[in-house]
Amino acid sequence: MAEIIIVPDEAAGGALVADEIVRLITATPDAVLGLATGSTPVPVYAALRERIGGVDVSRVRGFALDEYVGIDPAHPESYRSVITREVVEPLGLDPALIRTPNGALEGIAHAGDDYEAAITAAGGIDLQILGIGTDGHIGFNEPGSSFASLTRVKTLTQQTREDNARFFDSIDDVPLHCITQGLGTIMRARHLVLLAFGEGKAEALAGAVEGPVSASLPGSAIQLHPHVTVVVDEPGAARL
Ligand code: GLP
Repeated sequence: MAEIIIVPDEAAGGALVADEIVRLITATPDAVLGLATGSTPVPVYAALRERIGGVDVSRVRGFALDEYVGIDPAHPESYRSVITREVVEPLGLDPALIRTPNGALEGIAHAGDDYEAAITAAGGIDLQILGIGTDGHIGFNEPGSSFASLTRVKTLTQQTREDNARFFDSIDDVPLHCITQGLGTIMRARHLVLLAFGEGKAEALAGAVEGPVSASLPGSAIQLHPHVTVVVDEPGAARL
């Protein structure tokens, strides 16, 4: 059973998760973080910025959840760029210790295996930050994803491309494919922290936490994990 924490607003949720991350890094300076992109974790990274002074982050390692395929890594909306801009630089992390899946077309056939090997070599992910898509996806594991799946290339659904079009000039610029940690990869992390803010996430969040465990709602895989914390605001919790 997941621990569910209902917070007054996003800032409170971000502060709560940031406190947990600071505790983790203080106890384990070479902790391995699983880093999510999208709007949801922004308050976590903002709260971390306020708390990280005085904490030794020089050995913190990190793995992003996912990346677009075929996007120039220098594109401002590549997840490599987003993680660099929103996490690595403001927190002063060592960029050499923070990885994103390689979405370059060249070498894409083994990019998933390479990423899995790197996570395994790091000793696994200690704390995985997760958002949830309106269709219940975590990472970019769209409905139908196997619970055993590892990092691999997926096709984005039309709904996810529409949801993410706000980050691009138009929906036509949103890539068609992504490379994402699989549900099996995510389930190996030692602690999952799933955040959901706003009424638009209420249905997906309720399905993930209380609905049937089903590949049709990938977030429901968290019900099979022994250590999950769900951080949600009142509108996001409306369907629980
Ligand atoms: C995105 C990301 C996910 C994210 C989810 C929700 O497409 N690939 O990692 O959790 O969809 O996004 P947002 O937090 O912007 O609502």
